[in-house]
Amino acid sequence: MSPPDSQTQGADSAFEELRAAAESCTSCGLCEQRTQVVFGSGDPHADLMFIGEGPGAEEDRTGLPFVGRSGKLLDRLMGEEMGLTRDSVYIANVVKCRPPANRDPRPEEIAACRPHLERQLELIDPKVVVTLGNFSSKLLMDTRIGITKLRGRAYAWSGRALVPTLHPAAVLRGGGDAMAMVRADLVRAQMIVNRSTGDPSETEPAVVDLTELSELADVAGANR
Ligand code: URA
Repeated sequence: MSPPDSQTQGADSAFEELRAAAESCTSCGLCEQRTQVVFGSGDPHADLMFIGEGPGAEEDRTGLPFVGRSGKLLDRLMGEEMGLTRDSVYIANVVKCRPPANRDPRPEEIAACRPHLERQLELIDPKVVVTLGNFSSKLLMDTRIGITKLRGRAYAWSGRALVPTLHPAAVLRGGGDAMAMVRADLVRAQMIVNRSTGDPSETEPAVVDLTELSELADVAGANR
């Protein structure tokens, strides 16, 4: 194996600096009740990154994202539909500290944590981002349109592809239809990764422009 080049080493130390900054962050009230910061886990050079909402009880206890019931489902679907394990992708959240009693993260908490997520995206530089649920999808796509309207396609976003899908917790609540939707979205994301990493036999699914969001916004009840 050849030694890592200086650019890779620089990126790795920047990533560790970011982790250290996040782990000592006190920018919002969530720092007061956290057990630990859940920065993210996986391969910081991954082509594929998943972004969820925020840590739950199990994540707060272990310091790792998606290790509770939702995470077990995510692991399973990632394996079955993409042939991947959590070590070969990167997994992070919109907020890095657990909201008390698993309440929704507040706008000011999301805003305070946003620079950590943006820097993670910059340093990991994934080819494809899968947003899990409303919070990450609306934040990254800068829209109020809900996940049920957004999902089902891939969007060109910040020089990469963004594939919004339902949060695994919604699949646990919603059953078969929700599960089928997430499966289809994960297959879509993997096809784009394959294509972008040079598999010429892969047919690339359509990646639509974010401007098409305005069409979705016209649909009544679009913010669910
Ligand atoms: N739900 C999330 O959005 N993130 C986690 O890490 C766990 C559950």
